[in-house]
Parts: sequence; structure tokens; C-alpha cells
Amino acid sequence: MSETLRAATFLDKGGTGKTTTVAHLGVALDRLGRDVLLIDLAGKQADLAKNFGVWDEYRARIEEEDDWPNISTVFREQWGRIAGKLGDEEAVGNMIFETGEGPDLIPAHPGLDGLDTELNDIEETERRYSRLDSFVNEYIEPMDYDFVFFDLPGSTNNVSYNGLWSARNVVVPVEAGPFEARQAGRLRDDLRRISESFGVDLSLSMLILNKTDSRTRLSEEFTEEYEDEYPEVVAPTQVPRSQAVRNSANRGETLFASNASTGTAQRAREAFMENAEELLERL
Ligand SMILES: Nc1ncnc2c1ncn2[C@@H]1O[C@H](COP(=O)(O)OP(=O)(O)OP(=O)(O)O)[C@@H](O)[C@H]1O
Ligand SMILES: [Mg+2]
Repeated sequence: MSETLRAATFLDKGGTGKTTTVAHLGVALDRLGRDVLLIDLAGKQADLAKNFGVWDEYRARIEEEDDWPNISTVFREQWGRIAGKLGDEEAVGNMIFETGEGPDLIPAHPGLDGLDTELNDIEETERRYSRLDSFVNEYIEPMDYDFVFFDLPGSTNNVSYNGLWSARNVVVPVEAGPFEARQAGRLRDDLRRISESFGVDLSLSMLILNKTDSRTRLSEEFTEEYEDEYPEVVAPTQVPRSQAVRNSANRGETLFASNASTGTAQRAREAFMENAEELLERL
């Protein structure tokens, strides 16, 4: 088996489609024959669990405090004891849900929300940012997934840095707009800076134009701007704005599981498939 590929969706902005992208590319990669694990680091929102309809089951666990271990524990000293007590396989296995659409999922946990400050207390920067990476290397790699995809919070903090550090490859969904274009530029500079100061190779692998509207001139202009500015990273296919994306998320499934047959739903599905194939090529 070759090494597990990794990527993360990230942008320091809410609502651009990070979770939607992880969910849909995750299912697309599964359809391309890959074994996929999704890891949600976006705190108590637990949006991936909601997007895959396993939220009620997961919430019941959290409420009964039967959610131990969970993804937040892997960042803490206690992880060593947990794995020692349960054994590696069971410790990780306890955190994994089946989505019903192919990929496995480690959902986000409210315990992630307090982590930023805790990680700040770790003086040595490399240790502060590489907690998740150590966990993935030691416990996830042996499970032989083909692809691990992280969903990161829409803000820059120690948890998202851990995700970037471990994923190395960043997928950025953006909406067409001047603000987003600047943000994507800043992200690219940030990744370069982190790479240089810590000697890890982080790259902006794919920039996906999401929620595009082919009928507006504005959308077209920004598309051209992105293509000029990021010729090597813009995804081959834009994802149109489609009400079916929102509706299926609310039902707890992706577009691939939904029978929505509108033009935009159809094009969005194709876009996710084509971008997933391209992502495999690029990694
Ligand atoms: N192509 C699309 N067409 C229509 N709606 C979309 C599309 N992509 C995402 N959405 C909707 O936009 C909203 C935000 O998407 P999503 O939750 O994926 O963003 P996010 O970047 O993960 O947000 P957050 O920063 O809060 O984690 C959701 O309601 C989602 O269903
Ligand atoms: Mg999200």
C-alpha cells in the first residue's frame, strides 16, 4: 500500500463551503475507489456529522458523556493513557463513525473549543503545532486509509494550525469576491511562511470557486481574476450555487445520495467528481 494522502479545507472565513467540500470530495474519492477518513476539527458545530446525518446518534453520546475517547483527547497528554488502556485499535475505533455514503468520519467534539488556549501554553512551537500530526502518523497511518481529509475551523488558531501541519495540502473553497481573493492570497503567503520557518512543506493544492452563478457578470470577472492570479491551483471545475446542496445538507446527506435532478445539482455533482480526480493527480 502506498502512503495515506492527506488534505485539509481551510480559509480564515466562515461559510465559504469548507464542510460541504470535505463531505462531497470525500464521497467522490470513495466513488473513485479510495478508502476515505474524514476528520472534523471544527469544534462544537460538528457540521460534518450533521451533513452525514449521524448527528443525533453522536449528540446522544456526548450528552451521556459516553464520548470518550474523542478527537479532542488526541491533542492532550491523556491520549497516551487512553491508548494504553484500550489498545491502539480500539482507542481509534471508538471515535470512528460510518457515514453511510462511503467515507468514515471522526466527528468534531466540543472539547476542541478550549484547546486553543491549552495549546498556547506549550512553549515550543513545533510541539504545539505537531500534536495532531503525531497522532495521525502513529495511529491513523497503520489503518491503511488511502485518503484522510480534515475539515478545519474557519479561523486561524492553534487547532487549525495543527490541521494544516498534519495535512500539508490545503484545499480552499472561495466565493467570488475581492475580499475572498485577498484572503486566499494571504493564506498562500501564510503557508509559505510556515513552511519556511518550520521546515514543513505546506502547499495550496486547490482553490475551488464555489457557489458560482454563471448568470452574473461579477462572478465571471472574479473567475478570470482568480485564474490569472492562481493559474496552477484553481480547480478545473467550478461548483455552481445550488439550492440542492443546502437541502441535502439539511437532510443529512450529500448531493450524491440525493436524487435532486436540477441542472445545478447535476453540475455540482460533476464538479466534485472532476475536482476529486484532479486532486488525486496533484497530490
Ligand atoms: N455550491 C453551493 N450551493 C449552495 N449552497 C452551498 C454551496 N456550498 C455550500 N453551500 C451552503 O452554504 C452554507 C455554508 O457552507 P459550509 O458549511 O460548507 O461552509 P463552511 O466554510 O464549512 O462554514 P464554517 O466556516 O461555518 O465551517 C451551508 O448552508 C451550505 O449548505
Ligand atoms: Mg464548516
